[in-house]
Amino acid sequence: MNNYKTIIKDIYQIVHSSENKGDVANYIPELSKVDSNKFGVAFLSSENEKIGIGDHRTKFSIQSISKVFSLSLAFTLLGDEVWNRVGVEPSGGSFNSLIQLETDKGIPRNPFINGGALVICDMLISNLENPKSDFLQYVQEISSNNSINFVESTAISEERTGYRNKALCNFIKSFDNLDNEPKEVLDFYFNMCSIEMSCEELVKAFSFLSFRKKNSESNNLNSSQRKRINALMQTCGFYDESGEFAFKVGLPGKSGVGGGIVALHPDKYCIAVWSPKLNKKGNSYRGMKFLELFTTRTQESIF
Ligand code: DON
Repeated sequence: MNNYKTIIKDIYQIVHSSENKGDVANYIPELSKVDSNKFGVAFLSSENEKIGIGDHRTKFSIQSISKVFSLSLAFTLLGDEVWNRVGVEPSGGSFNSLIQLETDKGIPRNPFINGGALVICDMLISNLENPKSDFLQYVQEISSNNSINFVESTAISEERTGYRNKALCNFIKSFDNLDNEPKEVLDFYFNMCSIEMSCEELVKAFSFLSFRKKNSESNNLNSSQRKRINALMQTCGFYDESGEFAFKVGLPGKSGVGGGIVALHPDKYCIAVWSPKLNKKGNSYRGMKFLELFTTRTQESIF
């Protein structure tokens, strides 16, 4: 039996005392204000063992981690219809790449690259009565946490500099794969990405995907849908570093440019790491390092 507490404490010390490489995301100006030395880890097991270390209770911008929530809600509402407008293949490209969309005729490769996430946002806008507040309520419900909210300053900051997302959105619209106006889709997307949560809050929220037997009434995903979302996190959750993450860590997970990573071992545990400095692929440098050491030491991964 693994002593998770000792393992997490040991690895935290190792990673904390080694060089903190990379750069904080600055293409969204508001994100560059974060203290780059923040470092937190939270863990939650299916047996309800809770562990937290460092800045695990500090809220940070979850950015693309929110794409798991939007996909879950769209999948709950629309079922397999989702896959008529977005694929399930790793893109092998960066999160904000436009290249494949031309040859793929506006059907993004998967729901986690920005193009795919924008199409999912469009689906939610068409299927929710009050899109932004209904989505927020969904996230609050699966997290059992009413304090979760959008952060207006982050959403505005991204809107001001979000030329690439605007290009992606208009490009997809030109292929007729958006029902709503790009402006509305982008507003939803920027707000969704602006949500702030702590590592401690994230592990609780992601237990709806980790612990299949528990939490069955807290969301409407069936077990096959949960399997599919986990599979997409495994194959596409880290963009062009998804192979590397599977190779080194061996768990489904999702990253965000705020420096957060959530990973889970189905039916065993959920773990979240936050450290704002990112590697060249836009994933947390220390987060990747921590999780690699964690599954190496625990010898528990899905492979
Ligand atoms: O669209 C963007 O660029 C950001 N709002 C989210 C990107 C992101 O988090 C990519 N993940 N590592």
